[in-house]
Amino acid sequence: MALRSPVECSKRTAISHTLGNGMHRLYLLPILLLPSLLAAADLAPTPPMGWNSWNKFAEKVDDKTVREIADAMVSSGMKDAGYVYVNIDDTWEGERDAQGNIQANSKFPDMKALADYVHGKGLKIGIYSSPGPKTCAGFEGSYQHEAQDAKTWAAWGIDYLKYDWCSADKVYKPEEMPAVYKKMNDALKATGRPIVFSLCQYGLQDVWKWGASVGGNLWRTTGDIEDNWKSMSTIGFDKQIGHEQYSGPGHWNDPDMLEIGNGGMNRIEYETHMSLWAMLAAPLLAGNDLRSMDDTTRDILTNKEVIAVDQDSLGQQGRMISRTGVAQVWARQLDNGDLAVALFNRGDVMAEMSVEWPVLGLTGKHKIRDLWHHANMGAFRDQYTTEVAAHGVVMLRIAR
Ligand code: GLA
Repeated sequence: MALRSPVECSKRTAISHTLGNGMHRLYLLPILLLPSLLAAADLAPTPPMGWNSWNKFAEKVDDKTVREIADAMVSSGMKDAGYVYVNIDDTWEGERDAQGNIQANSKFPDMKALADYVHGKGLKIGIYSSPGPKTCAGFEGSYQHEAQDAKTWAAWGIDYLKYDWCSADKVYKPEEMPAVYKKMNDALKATGRPIVFSLCQYGLQDVWKWGASVGGNLWRTTGDIEDNWKSMSTIGFDKQIGHEQYSGPGHWNDPDMLEIGNGGMNRIEYETHMSLWAMLAAPLLAGNDLRSMDDTTRDILTNKEVIAVDQDSLGQQGRMISRTGVAQVWARQLDNGDLAVALFNRGDVMAEMSVEWPVLGLTGKHKIRDLWHHANMGAFRDQYTTEVAAHGVVMLRIAR
C-alpha cells in the first residue's frame, strides 16, 4: 500500500467510516487467528480470477476442453486482464484404486500432464470435491480420504480446490460444518503446496462468520446462480447485504461464478453483472466458453477499469448506500483514495439517476471517469446526474 500524507489518510478514514471500514475489524479478531489469516492473504490477496467449467459445460468437461480453454484464456487477452485459474468443477472423479487413491475418470486420462500443460501457459489449475461420500453430481467425494486426496491433488500440481458440501449432510450434522472444512484445510496445508481453498455450501450456517477461521479463501454465500436476470440480480443485489464486513484480503464472499457470455442475459445485463461483482469484491470466475466468445463478451470480461475495482488492494467490499425504488447507488472505497460508484437501475425502463456528494462523504468538485465508456467526464460539484438504461449500470471512478 502506498504511503499517504496525513491529510489523505484522514480523508480516507472519514469516507471509510461512511462506507464501513473493514480494516477496523481486524483488531477484533482473536490474536490466534492472525497467522492463518496472514497466510490466507498471501494466497488470495485480491479476489481470485479465472474460469470454472460448471456453468457452461457441467458434466461435459474433459481434458481436451480444459486445454483449449487454457489456450483461449491466453489468446483472448483474459490472462493479460488478470484471469489465472482454470478450474475443473464436478464430474472429473473416477474410482479409488486398491490403496484408496482417487483417480480421474476416462475424461481426464492424465491429470498431472493436464496440470503441467496449464502451468506451461503461465496459468494455474483448480479442482473440485466434496466432504461427503458423493459430490453433487454423484461422483466420488473425499469423505474419510481427506488427507489422501489433498496429497494426490498436490502431487498432480493442483492450485485451487472448490469443496462442495453436497452429500456431506448425510454423514455430518450442520453444526459440524466448520470442523469438516477445517479438516480439509489442514490436509491442504499439510501438503506444503499453496492451494486456494474455496468453500461451497451455499451460505449455510452463516459461513461468512467462520469461513476465514477455517482457512477459506472464499465462500459461496448463496445457492447456484442461473443465467438469467432474476437469478443474477437477486443474488448480487439482495443476498449479499450484511456480509460486507466479513470480506477482505485473503478471504472473500463468493456470490458464485459469472454467467457473462452464456446467452441468457443481454449486453447491458451482463455489464451490470460484471459491475456488481466488482463492487462486491467478488471472485471473478468466468463461466462461459472462452474458445468461442464474441467481442462483446470479451470486452465485458476484460474491462480493465472495472477489474481494477474488483481487484483493488484495499479489499473493501462495496455496498448499497442509497436507494430510490429500483434505483440503487453503490460505493466502494479504493486504496488510492478514489471511490468506485455504481448507479444501478433494476427497473424495466431507462431512469435518470443522481448521486449527491454528501452520501459519499464528499464535498466540492471531483473528477469523474466512466468505466464502461472509458471516458473522463470532467469535474463535477455537488452531484453527478446521468441516464441509466433498464437493467443497466453507470460505473464511475470518482477522484478525491
Ligand atoms: C453445486 C455447486 C455448483 C456446482 C455443482 C456441481 O450445485 O453449487 O457450483 O459445483 O454442485 O455438481
